[in-house]
Amino acid sequence: MSSTLITNIGELSTSDADQRVLTDAAVVLEGERISWIGPAAAAPAADTVHDAEGRAGLPGWVDSHTHLVFAGDRTAEFEARMAGAEYQAGGIAVTTEATRAAGDYELTRLLLGRAAEAASGGTTYLETKTGYGLDVEHEARSARIAAGVVDEVTYLGAHLVPAGVDADAYTELVCGPMLDAVRPYVQWADVFCERGAFTAEQSRAVLTACREAGLGLRVHGNQLGPGEGTALAVEFGAASVDHVNHLSDADVDALAGSWSSGDPSGGDPSGGDPARAGEAGPAGRAAAPGRGTVATCLPACDLSTRQPFPPARRLLDAGVQLALASNCNPGTSYTTSMAFCVTTAVLQMGLSVQEAVRAATYGGALSLGREAGADADGRRAVGSLAVGHRADLQLLNAPSATHLAYRPGIPLTGAVWRAGVRLG
Ligand code: NIG
Repeated sequence: MSSTLITNIGELSTSDADQRVLTDAAVVLEGERISWIGPAAAAPAADTVHDAEGRAGLPGWVDSHTHLVFAGDRTAEFEARMAGAEYQAGGIAVTTEATRAAGDYELTRLLLGRAAEAASGGTTYLETKTGYGLDVEHEARSARIAAGVVDEVTYLGAHLVPAGVDADAYTELVCGPMLDAVRPYVQWADVFCERGAFTAEQSRAVLTACREAGLGLRVHGNQLGPGEGTALAVEFGAASVDHVNHLSDADVDALAGSWSSGDPSGGDPSGGDPARAGEAGPAGRAAAPGRGTVATCLPACDLSTRQPFPPARRLLDAGVQLALASNCNPGTSYTTSMAFCVTTAVLQMGLSVQEAVRAATYGGALSLGREAGADADGRRAVGSLAVGHRADLQLLNAPSATHLAYRPGIPLTGAVWRAGVRLG
């Protein structure tokens, strides 16, 4: 098995349990795994050497919330919004029409292009959702196509009730035949619990059916106004509630409470000890006992829809685990750039650079149940740099991660390795 030594890393942000930031560091990749991390001066020999020349290194981004299976775009809607119109969930129908009209080849080509764009920006682990098919045939097709391209697929049949269809009848379809059709391709289920989308009662039905089908749960909640999404997510032990722009005190307390009995290492059985890193941890895709509901913030979406940012600082201070994700989709957030999300989280949401980096790496992995060990699928932990974890990392064309916020808008990702393979 061939090995690569990446040495002379000026600053290495590990996103590990201790949030260690090493200076003058080196990493050895052996096959798909990290086999050594430490001071460059003590690094072992390897088959090939990559000199980072003082650049900063960090884990590849884990983008835990995207909607990449779509055709068409919504430029006119965006322009109207920039002129003062409000975002409406109903815009999803425009993309559904374009997506249904596209052939398999075209839809796959578009998805591959978006995944490649994300990878070139440093994303090494990618979730995507269905949700622009909205009938049995097209939801199943989206799920099948997604499963061939990305790491994790989420069923979002409950994205919008199609025009002319009775909401309760559609919810039954989502919970029955549509769920059966997508089930072979997906690990997760999600519901858009929001005014103009699904009521709390309908969301509850979807979450119940999908849990019974063995899927891990996620919720789009509290995006456009106060509502029951976050409370439902916590009640159902969802792995993540995403958006969280409009939270009440009770929502914050519920999220914090979901973590208060949890393992302070966030489920990493190594407890951050590099010597024990890579040990198998609690497997499972959904929030297991002792794990809380991650609050996933989507700052690019908030800018594009002119929503208030989520109370990220307050959530972190309350003990809630945060993730940052791109929410790439044609309606509310047409970007795959996780670096942009990190920049915005620092400049606008009160996170430190290391908190934002951790949320965009470890936080995303935690929300996908991929943060620790190797699970029954035999896949390695992602989102942090430790011995035994998957060798997913990026070097910035900058001496420190701080430059992500200090030099906003500059594409700083210089080199990317995914599962030990250099991309690009
Ligand atoms: O996460 N909120 C629901 N879904 C997407 C928007 C989808 C669309 O408008 O096409 C989101 O923002």
